Amino acid sequence: MGLAGAGLLAACSSTGGGAATRAPVSAAPTPSLGKPSVEATLRVGVDQVDLGGVTASTWLYDGVLPGKELRAKSGDVLAIRVENALPVDTSVHWHGIRLHNAADGVPGLTQDPIAAGDSFSYTFRAPDPGTYFFHPHSGVQIDRGLYAPLIIEDPAEPGGYDAEWVLVLDDWTDGVGKSPDDILAEFKAQNGTVSTGMNHDMGGMGGMGSSPLGDVGDIRYPYYLINGRIPKSPRTLTAKPGQKARIRIINAAADTLFRVALGGHVMTVTHTDGFPVQQAETRALYLAQGERVDVLVTLGDGVFPLVASAEGKGGQGLALVRTGSGAAPSATVRPAELDADPLLLTALMPADAARLPDQQPDQVEQVTLNGQMQPYAWGMNGTVFGADTPIRTTNGARVRLQMTNMTMMAHPMHIHGHTWSLPQNGGLRKDTVLVLPMQTVTADLQADNPGKWAYHCHNIYHAEIGMMTSLQY
Ligand code: C2O
Ligand code: CU
Repeated sequence: MGLAGAGLLAACSSTGGGAATRAPVSAAPTPSLGKPSVEATLRVGVDQVDLGGVTASTWLYDGVLPGKELRAKSGDVLAIRVENALPVDTSVHWHGIRLHNAADGVPGLTQDPIAAGDSFSYTFRAPDPGTYFFHPHSGVQIDRGLYAPLIIEDPAEPGGYDAEWVLVLDDWTDGVGKSPDDILAEFKAQNGTVSTGMNHDMGGMGGMGSSPLGDVGDIRYPYYLINGRIPKSPRTLTAKPGQKARIRIINAAADTLFRVALGGHVMTVTHTDGFPVQQAETRALYLAQGERVDVLVTLGDGVFPLVASAEGKGGQGLALVRTGSGAAPSATVRPAELDADPLLLTALMPADAARLPDQQPDQVEQVTLNGQMQPYAWGMNGTVFGADTPIRTTNGARVRLQMTNMTMMAHPMHIHGHTWSLPQNGGLRKDTVLVLPMQTVTADLQADNPGKWAYHCHNIYHAEIGMMTSLQY
């Protein structure tokens, strides 16, 4: 199966432009949701951004990077009007939110793309508290500046912290290096096909440094950002010594897994992908594309580097935590904590309140992750999106997905509209799960939200080249 048949991340032409004519999508019915408690307009446009002394022309939400945070309480109805001022189609996906299908923002599956100059309104209820984000589901647009945090507060949350910070990690090339569309075009030009056997091909690692996780990224980026800033000009988060900070961290990168640490501190992990976990202390953690983590830290006195090191790539993003006087660390500071046995979020255990009720699966699906770096091709179940067979189930079923990674690369697999329960971890809840090379991960879900749900790798180049399918019922 050649890539020409790939339906691609948005099942229309990759960044829009209206090349492909497709049958319009019949969207699922929109439930009546009552009066929205959060209303906002999101303007998607071509803009310039100052990354901290480096200016890039790119695409942004409302002219800022990251886009303005949206915040609501669990159970709230959000009504977001999206105005597309780009020269191409776009869409907005509310990553991790268990919303109704018509608001999921996947062109070709749940809606038609939002054409250049058009607008579209997303109205949905956000049932579960937690740290989420939103981004386009059109081509590789997420690898421009199109992403923003979406925080759903828990009215029952005990709190117990003095400061709350939201950090968005990113890998950056647009407007300073190759454009994401050019990178994708180069991958496509390799004309790869997805091999279906065990693939031990180590070629094409592109001189990437080594990671204990194996190969985790294909692209070396000019910059890695925390909240839109390069390390020479970092954002500073301020508090008082001894205070407790809740830090919500979102990996919005396209091709980069980050290793995160706060110099001089131990982090207590409290949530991942929105859901509470049995609290775990660590000095460092891995955060894959699409994953989120919430940590609590008790702050020391001074100036501390919060570093997001691009795993296997050799660059980093930086933010500063300042509670006292002192000189800022250099842009290349590497806190020792980074090398202190980083935690994989898939090793956590769930908080009791987060568990799905125990149930044996009604249906077990084997899912293989296939492909290789050279020639560049990635897929699921031996084929690419567009040529795939959607996974089908019925409302009410408990569905078990057994994902076997037959490649030499780690893949952050993401499901829309549901949060998995991982039986190997006592039912840990996650919507994005890193599957290591040659590993099998079992992920259960309760089919209680009918629709057509995208299921893909959150390395956006992998997804766009074909590493995507869907779950439908
Ligand atoms: Cu972050 Cu298909 O999504
Ligand atoms: Cu992948």
